[in-house]
Amino acid sequence: MRNGAPDHELTLTTLHHSLTDPALESMNFLNEVASRYPEAVSFASGRPFEEFFDIKLIHDYVDSYCGYLKNDRGFSDAEVNRALFQYGRTKGIVHELIARQLRCDEGIEVDPEAIVVTVGCQEAMFVTVRALRADELDVLLAISPTYVGLTGAARLADMPVWPVRGGPLGIDLDDLARQIHRAREAGLRPRACYVMPDFANPSGVSMTVPLRHRLLDLAASEQILLLEDNPYGLFHDGSHLPTLKALDNGRQVVYLGSFAKTGFPGARVGYALADQRVAGDGGRVSLFADELSKIKSMVTVNTSAVAQAIVGGKLLEHDCSLVSANQRETAAYLRNLRQVLDGLHQRFAATRDSRASVTWNSPHGGFFVVVTLPFPADDELLERSAREYRVLWTPMSHFYSGHGGLPHVRLAFSQLTPDQIETGLDRFAAFVAGQHAGS
Ligand SMILES: Cc1ncc(COP(=O)(O)O)c(C=O)c1O
Repeated sequence: MRNGAPDHELTLTTLHHSLTDPALESMNFLNEVASRYPEAVSFASGRPFEEFFDIKLIHDYVDSYCGYLKNDRGFSDAEVNRALFQYGRTKGIVHELIARQLRCDEGIEVDPEAIVVTVGCQEAMFVTVRALRADELDVLLAISPTYVGLTGAARLADMPVWPVRGGPLGIDLDDLARQIHRAREAGLRPRACYVMPDFANPSGVSMTVPLRHRLLDLAASEQILLLEDNPYGLFHDGSHLPTLKALDNGRQVVYLGSFAKTGFPGARVGYALADQRVAGDGGRVSLFADELSKIKSMVTVNTSAVAQAIVGGKLLEHDCSLVSANQRETAAYLRNLRQVLDGLHQRFAATRDSRASVTWNSPHGGFFVVVTLPFPADDELLERSAREYRVLWTPMSHFYSGHGGLPHVRLAFSQLTPDQIETGLDRFAAFVAGQHAGS
């Protein structure tokens, strides 16, 4: 209190409506439960494996990047200092290395100028959705279940998200066509559909190559963009499929990149690859990436040059191949995936034809498996699982806007050791048995 006046108070209902949206509360809720039960084994968090983190690597990466600026790009010492210490180019400074990585690992040929380096993939999603929301007629389609970060970014941009059935194949194209037509009949403009063709979060599902082609054809005939998000695609068991962007010959795809899993999340570096041409006034043509970078310039000015140097150095040390940079990580994730699938089989296969049937899907990579239980699994049950059985998982209802009480849970196994997985699955089986006995 100052001069007897009451402290200034705000009312939540007078702030932006996103602040009361479940999408923005979802992450906090899950983190909060995890923090209250630190001794629980967590299948809730899709964080990367920590065993290979080493602070020395950060110094090595920065040194490699600075060496590259000097030796390959001819920078003087002062220019190297400026590149790392000063404000920098809005679209980023490691765009050429990212373009090399995309060619090397994904067979994507891209003009580096079409890349905007962002503060994580999260910023790439936000600036893209912000740009596509011209007025109240614009809507975004997104496969359902979907990543909460996308839903949250859309809320901040006031962009409505219309769910499109994901289903067992990753996307139901009939439903996509239906939603596009429904939106148009309502006088709205469906601008884009957000998809995760590889080991989606949360479903773990990947789309087949023919489905990818049909999706691109549909997007072309309906004149909508596809926003392709691909943080997990490189963690596969040898079954690497071409990304939509690699198959895209009509500039239909905006590719959203993340180094959170292939680099590390502490760096907070991602990018949007947006090579679409944008017609402006007086015949002026720009790249969509340039328009996105205008929004970025008012959100984060530029992505930290130090963080970009770290990611750039990691790319340089592995000839711009994240496949080669992540050999140990990929082996650990595949080992964990196998262990979870085998562990589920050992504990639940016998339930298959009973009323207490527990089933699960079997992805070939990524970080997630979805388990279907014989009862609804909501936030309240998660609390009970944490408190009584010391095991955490994510209710799939968090990934469906507005739907609660579904019998599906997401198990993330990326951060766990083999011992933790074994203990966690024992506890999960005890939780399922306990719940079933009590129901
Ligand atoms: C599908 C998906 N997209 C994007 C992200 C976030 O990426 P970043 O940490 O680069 O913002 C995640 C992280 O979990 C994710 O699962």
